Amino acid sequence: MENKIKELRQEISQAFANIHSKEELAEFWQKYYSKNGRIAGLMKELKNVPKEDRPTMGKVVNAFKSEAEQRYQEMKAKIEEIELAERDRKEAIDITMPAKKNPVGRLHPITLTRNAMINVFAGMGFEIYEGYEIEDDDHNFTRLNVAKNHPARDMQDTFYVTEDILLRTHTSPGQIRVMDAEKPPIKVLVPGRTYRSDSDATHSPMFSQMEGLVVDKHITLCDLQGALDEFCRKMFSEDVRTRLRPSYFPFTEPSVEVDVSCFECGGKGCSLCKGTGWIEILGGGIVHHNVLKNCGIDPNEYSGFAFGIGIERIAMLKYGINNMGLLFENDLRFLSQFRD
Ligand code: DAH
Repeated sequence: MENKIKELRQEISQAFANIHSKEELAEFWQKYYSKNGRIAGLMKELKNVPKEDRPTMGKVVNAFKSEAEQRYQEMKAKIEEIELAERDRKEAIDITMPAKKNPVGRLHPITLTRNAMINVFAGMGFEIYEGYEIEDDDHNFTRLNVAKNHPARDMQDTFYVTEDILLRTHTSPGQIRVMDAEKPPIKVLVPGRTYRSDSDATHSPMFSQMEGLVVDKHITLCDLQGALDEFCRKMFSEDVRTRLRPSYFPFTEPSVEVDVSCFECGGKGCSLCKGTGWIEILGGGIVHHNVLKNCGIDPNEYSGFAFGIGIERIAMLKYGINNMGLLFENDLRFLSQFRD
C-alpha cells in the first residue's frame, strides 16, 4: 500500500509538470481526483488491508489525499494566474499607439459646385432635366440652328461615334429634348458632362456644363439678366454686379456673354480678373426663333432665354483653383480640402 502511495505521488508530480492550461488541468483532475480516479481507487483498496493495519494505513492514505488535494489547489491557482496574465497581455492597450484613422468620403468640388448652382436656381423655380451624353447630330447641332457645314460647328471640336452620333459638345441639346417633351411655360436646368476634343491648361476633353432654359410669354433679355444677377449674388457675394456683352451663338439672337464684377478686388482690377474688374462666366441669350420653331413652339406667341455655364469654371472661381487639371487628377491631398 505504501509503495502504491509513493508511486502515485511520483506519478502525480510528473503529471503536474505537464500541465499548462485549464483544459489539461481538468483532464488531470478527471484522471486522479474524480470519483473514479486514481486517488479514490486507493481509498477503496483500504478494505484489502488487514484489519489491524487499517487505522494506521487509513491515516496515511488520508494524509496523502489531503496533501494531493492541496497540491491540486496550488496548481489550479498557478494555472489561473498564468491564464490571467496571458489574457492581460493579449488585451493590453498601448495608449501610445496612434489612433486608427477612419477616412470619411467627401463630395468632389465639381459636385459641390453643381449642387450649389442647382440650389440657387431651384430657389427660382427651375426644374432639373438630364439629357444624354451620347447624342445625335440633330439634337446637338441641327435643331439648335447649326446646320451641316455651318461654320459655327468649328467652334466645338466634336468627338464623333459615327457620322450622326457624337458625344454631346454642350448641354444645349437638352433644350431641344425638353421642348419636344413639354409645352411652355418651361423653366429647366440641364446639368451634365460634355465632351470636346480639346486639352490644355484651361480645357479638358470632358467637362461639365449647366444649361438653363426658360420659355414663356413675354420673356426678354431683362429676365435673363435678373436670373443671372440673382445667381451671381448667391454664388459669389451679395454685392457683385453683372454685365451683358454682345456675342454670337447660333441658337440665340441676340446672344450675350455675361460677366460678373470681380468678387476678389470689387472691380478695381487684380490678377483674378486680369486687371479688368470683370470675370466672364457664361454665354446666353434669347432663344432663336428657329430653335423654337424646330420644337413646334410658335415664336410669335412665346419667347425664351437660355444660358450655358461651365461648372468647372465656376468651381475654380468659387474655390480659387488656378489649374483645371487638379479637378480631374483625383489627388486626395487636393480633394480632401473641400467640404459642404
Ligand atoms: N452651348 C454654348 C457652349 O457650350 C453655351 C451657351 C451659349 C448655351 C448660349 C446657351 C446659350 O444656352 O444660350 O459654348
